Amino acid sequence: MNILLLGSGGREHALSWKLAQSPSLAKLYAAPGNPGIADEAECVALDATDHGAVIAFCKAQAIGLVVVGPEAPLVDGLSDSLRAAGVAVFGPSQAAAQLEGSKGFTKDLCQRAGIPTAGYVRTASLEQARAALTRFTSPYVLKADGLAAGKGVVIAETLEDAEAALADMFGGQFGGAGAEVVIEEFMAGEEASFFALTDGTAIVPFGSAQDHKRVGDGDVGPNTGGMGAYSPAPVLTPDLQARVMAEIIEPTVRTMRADGNPYSGVLFAGLMLTADGPKLIEYNARFGDPECQVLMMRLESDLAAIMLACAKGELAGTALSFRDQTALTVVMAANGYPGTPEKGGAIALNNAEAEGAKVFHAGTALKDGALVASGGRVLAVTATGASVTEAQARAYAAVDAVRFPSGFCRRDIGWREAAREREA
Ligand code: AMP
Ligand code: GLY
Repeated sequence: MNILLLGSGGREHALSWKLAQSPSLAKLYAAPGNPGIADEAECVALDATDHGAVIAFCKAQAIGLVVVGPEAPLVDGLSDSLRAAGVAVFGPSQAAAQLEGSKGFTKDLCQRAGIPTAGYVRTASLEQARAALTRFTSPYVLKADGLAAGKGVVIAETLEDAEAALADMFGGQFGGAGAEVVIEEFMAGEEASFFALTDGTAIVPFGSAQDHKRVGDGDVGPNTGGMGAYSPAPVLTPDLQARVMAEIIEPTVRTMRADGNPYSGVLFAGLMLTADGPKLIEYNARFGDPECQVLMMRLESDLAAIMLACAKGELAGTALSFRDQTALTVVMAANGYPGTPEKGGAIALNNAEAEGAKVFHAGTALKDGALVASGGRVLAVTATGASVTEAQARAYAAVDAVRFPSGFCRRDIGWREAAREREA
């Protein structure tokens, strides 16, 4: 089977690397891809917003499956266009991708289905939002309803800060994404991520991970797309995972199907592990970046076959196999990230992969044959080990082999779990 993978980040490099190992793969194409993905796939220039062009490419190259990496094409309805043209897709429909595309949609679904999540109010104007604020206490959690590239959430300590943030959101800070704002109760606890594959009916757990969202060591500074991750996340014990499946994932999939919007693809649940049990923070309709990198390092099964089963509604009975190891990834970012990253910085990978580490490209380009930085998050340096401590040591050994003078990374990825391992 020929596969077309859409996207150009570290997540897609990890997907391409795993897909390339699939016995069921004939030829892999990626659009637009990146220099790392080019080792695994033929990179082609295709505009994912031009559905007709993507369909024409699929017909011309006999594509048997399209794998959509990022959320934007899903929310834009590319899966629907492809399915209507008879092309199998890994990724939800536009209606189902509202689980990521509209925070209000997801909160309403949780309320109807009795899924544990923070209490909330949906507001459609600044006046309404200000009035609703009085029903909450500090810290105030404010969320632009739509896609805002991970930047649409504000946690404000004071009423003044909350009102200022609301004014910004309704004032167009996030464009149309802020036309509605969800105000939520603050949940205290440790965060973890859980992944499940579903074809709309059958559900197969795909494991856990923990991300590091803040830019600086010790979890300080502004939020980013993620500076590093590891999988599995032992804090999500088998008992907790069973609760997440029964109380959050299963009722979501059931309700989406009952509503006539069956969800197929990967469902990525951001969770808060509260004193009252796991609660949903948000859903994503795609794999996490960099969570995907650590999940793919552990996956042993044929990814192409699993994704096709998802796309065709044939997931029931699928058994997945993961290496009994921890994978840990360290993101190397360009100076300036998450603000304005410096572009064009030279990168030398040297022998970083010598000890079994894998360097996934996230924001790289080739300039006159040399590798340079072209994005905020540039590399995701990934290794495995028997523990977080071991995977961490291997990943940082590989990081230290890379020369990227105009970049930086956190030096403490995995700190929470490494500390628990020291205590154990
Ligand atoms: P989201 O984009 O919804 O994942 O939110 C970004 C981050 O904001 C999350 O990873 C949490 O750290 C935090 N957050 C979101 N909602 C809440 C909440 N209700 N209570 C506490 N923290 C939250
Ligand atoms: N790393 C978080 C995300 O991909 O949404």
